[in-house]
Amino acid sequence: MTFLFNSDAKRGAIFAKAFSRELPDILFAMDPAAVDPEAVRYLITWTVPEDLSRYSNLEVLFSIGAGVDQFRIDAVPPHVHVVRMVEDGIIRMMQEYVTLAVLALHRNLPAYLEQQRGEKWQAIAPVQAAERRVGVLGLGMLGTAVLDRLMPFGFPLSGWSRSPHEIEGVRCLSGRNGLDALLGSTDILICLLPLTDETRGLLNAQLFARLPAGAALVHLGRGPQLDHQALLQALDSGHLSGAVIDVTDPEPLPPGHPFWGHPKILLTPHIASVTQPETAAKAVIENIKRHRSGLEPFGLVDRGRGY
Ligand code: NAP
Ligand code: GLV
Repeated sequence: MTFLFNSDAKRGAIFAKAFSRELPDILFAMDPAAVDPEAVRYLITWTVPEDLSRYSNLEVLFSIGAGVDQFRIDAVPPHVHVVRMVEDGIIRMMQEYVTLAVLALHRNLPAYLEQQRGEKWQAIAPVQAAERRVGVLGLGMLGTAVLDRLMPFGFPLSGWSRSPHEIEGVRCLSGRNGLDALLGSTDILICLLPLTDETRGLLNAQLFARLPAGAALVHLGRGPQLDHQALLQALDSGHLSGAVIDVTDPEPLPPGHPFWGHPKILLTPHIASVTQPETAAKAVIENIKRHRSGLEPFGLVDRGRGY
């Protein structure tokens, strides 16, 4: 029985060590050319390999990341479990990034960086945390974790999801009406939604128009959820005050794209959160043990919903 690791060798070495300790009866392999394809029961990868059909006894296909939109799920036989990455390291990094982004916007960092470039020394009137409403799109593994981390700052918190949720200290909303209610009362909007047919293009002109004047965006989901032109118009008209953008379409952005030098945009190259091999290996091993005992793995993708 083989576990095939299809990602970078440095991470692979960490996984290999954990597997030899915890699942010694499973052969851990990193070279697809050297495995008996029929022995492969588990495969971890970022994208689905073109020759997936050679692994005729595959049982679980793991994504190396939290998102699975890069998978062509239709190409995966229906009996194969598709599992996204649910692990502590990716959560912790996202909590750090969101804290950084929200505080940067709350404390006017883009404007102060622009002032510094212009040698201008001028205070901007502060807004208290209790007056800065933060709304999170997506109440999954990452959305709930970042809300938890933001709570001690005292921002009024709201969150939006597809199905109803209850989180202490957070106004939880769902469905289309819920989205309208959240947008109308959000000063910093954080997108942590998976990319699906329903969320593609969601961050568009109509959505920005529903935010209060002066609101800001933190985009961490996937590039195709954001209409770049609509964001530029909303920033340049002054309706939105700033944006922290970690994901774009395409990635990387082409030379000369207006986001590179925009004074109201803080741009990072899709690094908000990265799978951490030590904690990820632990999580994958636990999921294999669950699967072997007939339990559902954590992070099992619902193919109908697409996440
Ligand atoms: P998750 O646990 O699957 O949670 C997804 C959340 O989005 C759920 O609360 C879900 O609602 C909600 N949702 C999905 N479709 C919706 C819709 N049409 N309307 C309203 N709510 C909807 O996902 P996660 O692990 O938190 O990750 C979220 C995304 O973050 C990933 O898919 C990936 O794209 C992105 N990500 C980015 C980075 C980065 O570095 N920038 C790193 C990791 C992940 P329900 O709760 O009702 O199902
Ligand atoms: C990164 O974007 C991930 O999906 O883990």
